Amino acid sequence: MARSEGRFEGKVVFITGAARGQGRAHARRFAAEGANIIAVDVCAPVLPDVSYESATVEDLHETVRLVEQEGRGIVAHVADVRDQASLDAAVAEGVDRFGRLDVVVANAAVASYHLTWEVPEEHWATVLDVNLTGVWRTVKASLPAMIEAGNGGAITFISSAAGLRGYSYLGHYAATKHGLVGLMRSLTLEVGQYDIRVNSLHPGAVDTVMGNDPDVPRIIAEDPRTTGAYTGQRPLGGGAQLTDDISNALLWLSSDEARMVTGITLPIDAGAAMR
Ligand SMILES: NC(=O)c1ccc[n+]([C@@H]2O[C@H](COP(=O)([O-])OP(=O)(O)OC[C@H]3O[C@@H](n4cnc5c(N)ncnc54)[C@H](O)[C@@H]3O)[C@@H](O)[C@H]2O)c1
Repeated sequence: MARSEGRFEGKVVFITGAARGQGRAHARRFAAEGANIIAVDVCAPVLPDVSYESATVEDLHETVRLVEQEGRGIVAHVADVRDQASLDAAVAEGVDRFGRLDVVVANAAVASYHLTWEVPEEHWATVLDVNLTGVWRTVKASLPAMIEAGNGGAITFISSAAGLRGYSYLGHYAATKHGLVGLMRSLTLEVGQYDIRVNSLHPGAVDTVMGNDPDVPRIIAEDPRTTGAYTGQRPLGGGAQLTDDISNALLWLSSDEARMVTGITLPIDAGAAMR
């Protein structure tokens, strides 16, 4: 089915973790439908001893190129969601340049794989700091400008199927992704009066660098307890989803088509979180 064009003409979308993967795909798709983009990414390693590669400044430059190729503007900053001042600066420059802020996609996150009682202290602290506190910081950087503009808007937290069910080896990550649901539901009650909607989107495995972490097959092979958790309960089979599968849902959720949708947890996961 052909997607409708131009749902975000004249609007401004702020995306964290936009250098690559889902964040980059969302930036390109929002731009293709008329939005100007504010993009941030840390573009550096965040966790020690992680088996998947980190994003780079070159990756963020490629996001800029893709958005500009769609004929839209982009303000791109190397910024860490753990650093409030760097998020505030990116949003301030974007709002100064584009005049408003309508949509926020809190997407930046990191993952690692450990049995819960073996999670290294630094991994526990950093995963919570980036995946949960970083989303709170993203909200803090965005909401004053959205409320001030008075245009309403949509905020989406990119959680995970691991925000709706447990996964072995992902206890620390799942705790943050569940935590986002509580934050989302509470914020929803606070900002509805400004016509701002807040939802969480819960992808299953997606074909990105994080989603293709080479550690995962090793863990599944070494520990049969994880086999069912990763593949066995997916009604639509074991293949990874594409970033477009997530963008399709996110753009709808962020658009006026979903103007009555707030406070939901939307799984896009081939049924992985089904109970
Ligand atoms: N890929 C999957 O299988 C999968 C499944 C479920 C949920 N998710 C979620 O989807 C979102 C996007 O992940 P992805 O698959 O595109 O992974 P990815 O690793 O390709 O992209 C994540 C981006 O976030 C950035 N980032 C990490 N820490 C940051 C920080 N402190 N400050 C700013 N930027 C930071 C990274 O540099 C990277 O560019 C994440 O929230 C992830 O948890 C992914």
